[in-house]
Amino acid sequence: MNTLTEQWIQITPTSEVPLREGREVKLGSINIALFNLGDRWMALENRCPHGHGPLADGIVGGYGTATTVTCPMHSRRICLDSGAVVKPLGQGGPCVRTFPVKVEDGIVMLDIQDSKAREVAA
Ligand code: FES
Repeated sequence: MNTLTEQWIQITPTSEVPLREGREVKLGSINIALFNLGDRWMALENRCPHGHGPLADGIVGGYGTATTVTCPMHSRRICLDSGAVVKPLGQGGPCVRTFPVKVEDGIVMLDIQDSKAREVAA
């Protein structure tokens, strides 16, 4: 079927996540928000840096050149590529961890060992 390396974890068939929606994925102690953007898949920690809102339940959209998810709690927008808060601007502080995603043979796979946590410049 597909090649599973030591770090890639099979998550779900692509058909299980509708276009431009998110789904919560729990892998041990890590809670991840997985998003289907049609031409690509994105994953980040399912926890808004403001008040821990569930980002998997947010609305996918755009803000400037960034593809974002809007937190369902207080509407902060999080960049799906970087995990940074892009609205409101100037929030600074830690952003959301992002995770590499790939699709092989119709199966979405995550690499949780290669996650990134970046600091957002104030
Ligand atoms: S918890 Fe996400 S904006 Fe407040």
